[in-house]
Amino acid sequence: MISLSSQESIYLDFAATTPIDPRVLEAMNNSFQQYGNSESVHDFGFKSHEQLQMSRKMFAESMNVHPREIIFTSGGTESDNIATLGVTRKFMRDNPGVRPHIITSAIEHHAIWKSCEYLEKLGVNVTYVPVESDGIVAVKKIQESITKNTILITIMHVNNELGTIQPIKEIGKLAKDENILFHSDTVQSFGKIYIDPNEMKLDMLSASAHKLYGPKGIGLLYIKNSGRRTPIDDWNEQEPDEEDFFLEPIMFGGGQENKLRPATVNVQSIVGFAKAYEIMEEVRNEEMNRLREFQQELTGFVLSTIPDSRLNGHPNNRLASHNNFSFKNVNGFDLLTELDQRKIAVSTGSACIAQSDEVSHVIEALRLPSEYQQGTLRISTGRYTTSDHIKRIKIALEESVNKLRK
Ligand SMILES: Cc1ncc(COP(=O)(O)O)c(C=O)c1O
Repeated sequence: MISLSSQESIYLDFAATTPIDPRVLEAMNNSFQQYGNSESVHDFGFKSHEQLQMSRKMFAESMNVHPREIIFTSGGTESDNIATLGVTRKFMRDNPGVRPHIITSAIEHHAIWKSCEYLEKLGVNVTYVPVESDGIVAVKKIQESITKNTILITIMHVNNELGTIQPIKEIGKLAKDENILFHSDTVQSFGKIYIDPNEMKLDMLSASAHKLYGPKGIGLLYIKNSGRRTPIDDWNEQEPDEEDFFLEPIMFGGGQENKLRPATVNVQSIVGFAKAYEIMEEVRNEEMNRLREFQQELTGFVLSTIPDSRLNGHPNNRLASHNNFSFKNVNGFDLLTELDQRKIAVSTGSACIAQSDEVSHVIEALRLPSEYQQGTLRISTGRYTTSDHIKRIKIALEESVNKLRK
């Protein structure tokens, strides 16, 4: 048994959120010098505006899109809400009496799931396509769900609990062929897997800074053609035709962010987000390779050393940082508490339901044998994970599972 008192706490919950990278903090601190409102028409405003536009340009260049196709939001949740609610309400306004249909998956984050549940209350039809037992959506099942009223397909890129990577390129192709809008929640993958929205045939993409060592409360939504159906030749054209838009705002106020997302722009956080993304681009390969080695070591250890354990989700088609295990006849919440007492921070699944011991909809969607359902644990690694941390979690995990089973 290891002595607890002398050990530092270790954080293995990077899928819930990440610590801020010191380089991001420095960029934000410098940015606070320019405190003007980015929309103000004076030098203070212009300086802030310049920082805002430089950050936007950085994202646009990396993603091969036009800067006007990116709007900044308060994070992944808001981006997901604009994509789902904004598209559906606009359609319902334009087509009174027609009942729209949305296709999503059974493993989406609550930001999509709850938005869809709300839309159902407005009379929208929603299909929650099941996943296979490996936690991946079958494109064929999406295809089979399409109806003449399908207006939107929204499928996440990487699942937050399992780390499984969804076939968004194939889904994008299907959506394009069927002339249906396609949105992906890429909050878990953004920066960690390179995404070119045009190559993936995405009409919208949600991202969030705090999953990639940036600040909390800031994210972006990529919107193809700034939300217009007709391709844009001249980005400087005056007042576009309202009829042509495929989405509308969900909040109302000023005209910031292409009139789609009002509120004084959070320039400092945007600067931090851009810096975090830039760093991620630089270190991506090396960092992901390192985490992949940890993943293989941890998975190999758990499956070979802890009896009646299983890895949830596809063994290879997953992000390098995510490890999700189930232990037969062990309660995941008890296991998390045991590990917390050993100063190791992990999670049972999504942070949104972390305080309850109900089985998440993601784990339910995998249809695990019932003795394994309660015992899930997500161990997610990141930039500051060391081989010593992996050593400690291996020992602590084995001890804790044995203790709980006694
Ligand atoms: C897949 C996914 N979507 C959306 C969100 C919500 O993002 P935010 O916390 O920036 O609102 C999260 C955060 O946990 C997530 O993992």
